[in-house]
Amino acid sequence: MLAGRHILLAVTGGIAAYKAAELARLLLKSGATVQAAMTPSAARFVGPLTFEALTGRKVALDLFAAEEPGRGHLDLAREADLMVIAPATANCLGKLAAGLADDLVCTTALALKAPLLLCPAMNPRMWEHPAVQANVKLLAERGVEIMEPETGPMAHPREEPGRGRLPEPAAIHDHICRMLPPSGSLSGVTLTVTAGPTREAVDPVRFISNASSGAMGYALAEEARRRGAEVHLVSGPAALPAPPGVDLVRVTGVAHMLEAVQWSLASSQALIMAAAPADFQPRQTAAHKIKKESAGDSFTLELVMAPDILKSLAPLREGRIFIGFALETEEGPAHARRKLHDKNLDLIVLNHPSPAPGAGMGEARIQGALIGRDGTEEALPVMPKLQLAGIILDRLEALLPKHE
Ligand code: CTP
Repeated sequence: MLAGRHILLAVTGGIAAYKAAELARLLLKSGATVQAAMTPSAARFVGPLTFEALTGRKVALDLFAAEEPGRGHLDLAREADLMVIAPATANCLGKLAAGLADDLVCTTALALKAPLLLCPAMNPRMWEHPAVQANVKLLAERGVEIMEPETGPMAHPREEPGRGRLPEPAAIHDHICRMLPPSGSLSGVTLTVTAGPTREAVDPVRFISNASSGAMGYALAEEARRRGAEVHLVSGPAALPAPPGVDLVRVTGVAHMLEAVQWSLASSQALIMAAAPADFQPRQTAAHKIKKESAGDSFTLELVMAPDILKSLAPLREGRIFIGFALETEEGPAHARRKLHDKNLDLIVLNHPSPAPGAGMGEARIQGALIGRDGTEEALPVMPKLQLAGIILDRLEALLPKHE
């Protein structure tokens, strides 16, 4: 996601400095080069050696260090695609707002042309202080990106909880991925991907759902983002983390999913429906938990057809590319071809819920066949879902009108 990007990770002196090591690890895992810089007080909270071991680079510490030729503030600023200060202390915010430059981190920030992301973290009373708030406002007005601290327990158990916590490293990493969209074969394209099952409520504690894990949709979203697309992932309940840099909208029922997809489609050039939305929903949702006593020996639940999302969106296509999935247990190609025409799709991915051991619904691998509008069929072997995602996106790229 961040391959070829150079991130300058600056750490200032707060208790949350330890979280910056995890941030460095996540950035490196995404393919970025990470240069760490620390203020002298940050180096008292976490040893620079931790960052050196993680990044494989000497930590920039001292504004006047003669033994660091070429690591001066101007070089640090010049080579960065993005500078993130995490945690940024109240002192650091004050110095940046005033344009002071008495340590390596603030001096580098002044010389920076690349985007700057500040992740303030401090005691809640300090965060709420009008001086800190005024500094943050001023910096935001100057175009600095601010990730506000979170509310929750403080690092010290005796401190009362409040707003001031550094966001989790994964959230900061995600924010950085959004600020630095990868450039690739889908740059400039906005894509809506759906994933996972839906839940149709029977009563406040029961619902009807299916075995979809969401893994195929999440793999498509991740790969599309890696190729530079702006991705809206509309997901039913799934126990998967949001792929970095992807805009995740969580929904529950099929009506909710339809609404979210409709909204997202307005800005998208393509839709990939990898979700398994319900086909049927209870005619009524009971307001209170249905009691066994009221049912007797058996219980009949009346189901009605749920909206078919792809079908209802067909009138809104207007030149957009629509890709669907067909989950079939028998006569797959025939059913898939019918769905392709009924739902007016450009491409359909035929798959079986359990084509082979360790493959199919809820598994990491899948077997698919791609059936095009022109009738062509490409049968594929069992493969990881991420690999199939790549093949589907290759087909999408060929279908999209050529863009600059
Ligand atoms: N789909 C949809 N809305 C629904 C159900 C399905 O948009 N309420 C989409 C799925 O996301 C998939 C395609 O339609 O891309 C086909 O889904 P599938 O479950 O294979 O078929 P159905 O059309 O639901 O028909 P059936 O269940 O009878 O096979």
